[in-house]
Amino acid sequence: MKKTKLKAPINVAVWRGDQAGEFREYDVPREQIQMVLDVITYIQRKLDPTLSYRFSCRVGVCGSCAMTVNGRARWTCRTHVNEVIKNNRIKIAPLKSFKVIKDLAVDMDVFFTKLVKAEGAFIPTANRKDNLPRLSPNTEKRQAASSGIECIGCGICYASCDVVKWNPDYLGPAALNRAWTLINDVRDGGNEKRLLTVSSETGCISCHSQQGCTKSCPKHLNPAKSIAGLKRKTAWGLLTGKL
Ligand code: SF4
Ligand code: FES
Repeated sequence: MKKTKLKAPINVAVWRGDQAGEFREYDVPREQIQMVLDVITYIQRKLDPTLSYRFSCRVGVCGSCAMTVNGRARWTCRTHVNEVIKNNRIKIAPLKSFKVIKDLAVDMDVFFTKLVKAEGAFIPTANRKDNLPRLSPNTEKRQAASSGIECIGCGICYASCDVVKWNPDYLGPAALNRAWTLINDVRDGGNEKRLLTVSSETGCISCHSQQGCTKSCPKHLNPAKSIAGLKRKTAWGLLTGKL
């Protein structure tokens, strides 16, 4: 019988501690089917139970497992080791642009606060007693709303955005993508306030269109396109005296 050749263990450098921490190295057995999250889980369960990290669904739905893998923000539950391993090494750090709580767990408060600031909550214009009109999925507005709606709030675009790094007040790609989704949702009634916020200095006009958000989004959303839509809407609002 043909023997399967065993691969050498993976050398994994993992960030330990808070903002002022350091990398610590571990050897993790290589498996044929192995996600980066499996590597982290192995370390925590077999080598060092004090390692802190965050995950929930393990299937790309909850958005909680995002980390920096070999310098790039990724969802670790859907990132195969084969995609990222280099010279048998993987380097895993917390998401950039977030405060580190401990090891690989970051404080997401700033990210969710900005979603709220961008008026990211749906404001209903009808209640359950109203006759709700049927919405065609084919209208331009519905398609623009649908294109950004599958955001899982992972923070990967935020961590990959250069503007966020030097302007901590910038609302960031996920919050602006959410605002654009709601601006195109004909059922929503919060656009006046929303447009004022997203057209301000901390909103879409600060975006430099470098596309880091769109290149890194694991759901293949296009926050850069949403922000471009907000810029057009802002320009139109200024031209027509509505802003
Ligand atoms: Fe994550 Fe994409 Fe949503 Fe950004 S837009 S939070 S990268 S799913
Ligand atoms: Fe839920 Fe990765 S654990 S998206």
